[in-house]
Amino acid sequence: MSEISVGVIGLGQRGLALLESMMACPECQIVAVSDLYEDRRQKGVDAVMKHRNKAPKIYADWKELIYDPQVQAVVISCDWEMHIPMAIEAMHAHKIVASEVAGAYSVEDSWKLVDAYEETKTPIMLLENCCFDEFELLTTSLVRHGLLGDILYAHGCYGHDLRNEITGGNVNRHYRLRNYEHRNAENYPTHELGPIAKILNINRGNRFLRLASNGTRPGVGLEAYTKDKRCIDPTLTHQSFAQSDIVSTTLITEQQQVVTIRLDTSLPRFYAREFTIRGTKGLAQGDQNLVCLDGDIPEIYETNKFYAKMLNNADAYKEKYECDIWKNITPAQRELGHGGMDYIEFRVFFDCILNHKPLPIDVYDMATWMAVTPLSTLSMERGGEPVEVPDFTRGKYREREAQDVVALPK
Ligand SMILES: NC(=O)c1ccc[n+]([C@@H]2O[C@H](COP(=O)([O-])OP(=O)(O)OC[C@H]3O[C@@H](n4cnc5c(N)ncnc54)[C@H](O)[C@@H]3O)[C@@H](O)[C@H]2O)c1
Repeated sequence: MSEISVGVIGLGQRGLALLESMMACPECQIVAVSDLYEDRRQKGVDAVMKHRNKAPKIYADWKELIYDPQVQAVVISCDWEMHIPMAIEAMHAHKIVASEVAGAYSVEDSWKLVDAYEETKTPIMLLENCCFDEFELLTTSLVRHGLLGDILYAHGCYGHDLRNEITGGNVNRHYRLRNYEHRNAENYPTHELGPIAKILNINRGNRFLRLASNGTRPGVGLEAYTKDKRCIDPTLTHQSFAQSDIVSTTLITEQQQVVTIRLDTSLPRFYAREFTIRGTKGLAQGDQNLVCLDGDIPEIYETNKFYAKMLNNADAYKEKYECDIWKNITPAQRELGHGGMDYIEFRVFFDCILNHKPLPIDVYDMATWMAVTPLSTLSMERGGEPVEVPDFTRGKYREREAQDVVALPK
């Protein structure tokens, strides 16, 4: 097999962007598209025609796309509620699955995902693109080479002011609105947790044991925003929201590392993921593009001046520790979405499929990371009490070998 025929379900803002990244990979043929809305289906067709001049089949019903015999792999980029049901259906139809990120709606749903995989052995990958980002992979390489020592603490955040997107949900047909109205959760854990979990070898020799979450007073930021003139939907002026503006979650691993993550999407702020890895020999901080090894750090009085000089010093580590896939990326590939990480995740996905390699973010990672969402709700309902994180590998994590998402320099 030298080509793979892909069907894409969900042609909203993300689905259309994914089409561009996928079609930059010559081995990918987009043979079918599906969306609830006719105008979005047409946009998907137009994008495929522009790049490949060959119209894909169009399905209003996603199940028909999955059971189309020509479709070998299904890419899911829908509302959060549909990811797990669609992934399960596709696995039962023996269609390889790549699913966009989301949180699960129950721990049971994560188990159903694992069960469907174990019954069918159909390959499935969570499209957690931040695991493929340049700084995260450079840091992974530094960790694997022992430069940061014994890793004890990590932190990440999904810091993105989405007030406009959330409150525009009725106008833009977007799922975030109903989620923020009706539930309170760490609703988007994987961008920050995914790269950290890979570095800590979660589900491969290590696992999360428990987590505890706390949220700020629900709805405050959004309820203020709906009364502001920037809110495009006047029907929301008196709407209440169940979601906390900030949800802070602490996870503990079996190796007693502490991981903190924060959902931070409805107060004024700049975008940041705050990716931080701390070990006995040094630290890496993504937002500052900074790597600082022990011994580099001067005495306390000089620390602030020194810190300013260190900003953006991580580039110096690239020659020796950067993986080839980032060393060789072209400016055009960087343009394909999120600075190139979207393109790289599909390069890896298609390479694994065509060369029968295991997918690097598999069903156990997907089930575990997505389960953080319902577990965070449970913890908040219990006043921030710790709750257990299930072992979705059912003990197999002890034997499963570590697997980075790309090959790193030896
Ligand atoms: N990895 C990233 O960087 C990144 C960035 C943005 C969004 N996302 C993820 O991508 C997904 C989509 O987000 P979005 O912002 O594009 O949302 P969107 O609302 O713009 O698009 C979702 C699309 O799915 C379609 N859809 C929903 N149910 C369907 C069904 N039953 N059958 C067919 N189509 C259906 C909707 O009609 C809509 O067009 C989400 O999971 C989101 O979290 C990921």
